Amino acid sequence: MIKVNNLTKIYRTPIKTNNFLQDLFARKYEEKKALNNISFEIGEDEFVGFVGPNGAGKTTTMKILSGILYPTSGNIEVLGFTPFEKRKEFLKQIGFVMGQKNQLLWELPAIDSFQLAKEIYEVNDITYKKTLNNLIELLDAQKLVEQPLKTLSLGQRMRMELIASLLHQPKILFLDEPTIGLDIFAQTTVRNFIKEYQRMYHATIILTSHYMQDVQKLTKRVILIDTGKIIFDGQLGDLKEEYSDEKTITITLERPEEKLPDLDFKYDYQAPLLKINLKKEKLNTILPEILKKIDFSDLTIEDEPIEEIIKNIFMRKKDSPS
Ligand SMILES: Nc1ncnc2c1ncn2[C@@H]1O[C@H](COP(=O)(O)OP(=O)(O)OP(=O)(O)O)[C@@H](O)[C@H]1O
Ligand SMILES: [Mg+2]
Repeated sequence: MIKVNNLTKIYRTPIKTNNFLQDLFARKYEEKKALNNISFEIGEDEFVGFVGPNGAGKTTTMKILSGILYPTSGNIEVLGFTPFEKRKEFLKQIGFVMGQKNQLLWELPAIDSFQLAKEIYEVNDITYKKTLNNLIELLDAQKLVEQPLKTLSLGQRMRMELIASLLHQPKILFLDEPTIGLDIFAQTTVRNFIKEYQRMYHATIILTSHYMQDVQKLTKRVILIDTGKIIFDGQLGDLKEEYSDEKTITITLERPEEKLPDLDFKYDYQAPLLKINLKKEKLNTILPEILKKIDFSDLTIEDEPIEEIIKNIFMRKKDSPS
């Protein structure tokens, strides 16, 4: 469905000098390599999360896949098309939502923008009505679509943006930070909607987000990208397996008023909670010691949070000479 081979993107921005003749005839350019030879494939019905720090190249990748930007080099095929040719048949099959950017008419109610989208994408009346009603219901947006866009809150506007980009039932949906800036409640609304939408319409979805909750709740596969290079592409579960070797044991002591016994490992104690961070392979030796020496009312063993794992991968990469 999506095939990307050796994709490179270099942005060229003109550098202004004080010499106007030079600017005119021998303009100098600054080059920025935003994507450095990346390759991946995405199949039908997949839900993929692109994760990486600011400036990693996530938005650039999405813009190239959707035909907004030209690649500098490499082969890109999406639904059998070359995106930047912007063929109508191609554009009718994709949708793009950018959390940072408003795509609807500001002064008018969203329903007018939807009508416009219907015409542009040549959606027939019956499909339009059915899809619109369904989306409105899923997003609980009956009243909102009638109000001028500028009177809506950020979260309400995002619901409108989502509807607008889905009315033509795209086969591929690009979601670039759809929850950015939203409060936790609005984030959950958007997240639940996306999940339900994919269940109903089986679109291929590519999502970027700085909120790991989005990635964890929605995607199975993640592509980690940093300074234009892919540093991991696989299942979220494998990421944990491969990169995380830490566990946290939290114990609630039965009698916190008593003195703690001598323990052969490092811990952090704030009565009644005893916390131990340890390497996975140490579990076998430390657990029996705990069971033998400590009376507790509760004990949990947790994986390292996915945020931590990903943060460490990016940090490790920065430390290692390349
Ligand atoms: N129009 C542009 N002209 C020049 N450089 C650009 C342009 N757009 C992006 N860049 C640069 O390309 C790199 C990748 O940018 P991109 O927007 O793809 O990152 P991102 O992963 O989406 O980051 P963020 O998480 O901040 O959205 C950055 O170094 C950025 O400064
Ligand atoms: Mg971006």
